[in-house]
Amino acid sequence: MMGMDTEYILGKLGKIEVLPTFPGIVGEVINVIEDPMSSAADLAKSMDPSMVGEVLRVANTAYFGTRNFRNITSIEHAIAIVGFQHLSHIILHMPFITMIKGDSVFNREEFIRHSITCGVLSKTISTCVRGTNANEVYIGGLMHDIGAIVIYRYFREEWEHINALIMEQNISRLDAEREVFSVDHGVIGALLLQMWNIPKSVTGGIMFHHNPEAAEEYREHAMIISMGNTCAKKIDLRDNFSSFDEFLYKYRDCIQIAEDQWVSLTPSEELRFFEQAFAQLKNVKGFFEEVLEEKDDKSSCC
Ligand SMILES: [Fe+2]
Ligand SMILES: [Fe+2]
Repeated sequence: MMGMDTEYILGKLGKIEVLPTFPGIVGEVINVIEDPMSSAADLAKSMDPSMVGEVLRVANTAYFGTRNFRNITSIEHAIAIVGFQHLSHIILHMPFITMIKGDSVFNREEFIRHSITCGVLSKTISTCVRGTNANEVYIGGLMHDIGAIVIYRYFREEWEHINALIMEQNISRLDAEREVFSVDHGVIGALLLQMWNIPKSVTGGIMFHHNPEAAEEYREHAMIISMGNTCAKKIDLRDNFSSFDEFLYKYRDCIQIAEDQWVSLTPSEELRFFEQAFAQLKNVKGFFEEVLEEKDDKSSCC
């Protein structure tokens, strides 16, 4: 499965400094999402100060808007306002977003939008496909492209080489990554998360989201995240989501394109997918609109 560069890749990944509480908190997020009886206090206990600060910032922004006085100061109150679902977007992206903070080349807003859309759509597809765990697929979908940030931030020479290959040989970013590393950003992101002891049920789907046929374990997870990714590249979270009929009309092809690759849904499953996707994306958009700055046109993501 892996090429000759694996040791070199693992060596570099091993040196990446992480928020000390992050590996533990991913497990906690999984528990909380899977167990509605878990409380905000449990989650708050496992957060480190920078994470608490970010959750407070987001809660205040989402609740009061960017120009208003901020007065939510308790983490439990902040979690109650943000809600577990939105909280998971923030927590699961935090260490990676920190890696590109203040960077002008990597399009942070677009990355977050694409990741959230893929997470939500993957979860929605998962609920239509028997035998897959929607929460694990959701978390995998949210983090599916973190390898792209890792390459950009920690493999700068290879990043430049990849960009040169794309220009010179007119090949896709994915092919260029495979030429340089023997593997793509899915594998690199998953290897990093595995080093941090994130469960294989999550990393397996991430590792093979561009080639699910290569997955030995959790192939269905990889297939679904691949479908979610295909749809997420088409569905723009900046749409206004005012009419379900418009949404369906505009995007009804996307699931067929994704289905041609992996899983086939019946017409009623397809309709259910669109209904759920519409409701969930509308909800996520409403929340993150205040938190994310509008910037740049939709660029090609991975
Ligand atoms: Fe990708
Ligand atoms: Fe992607």
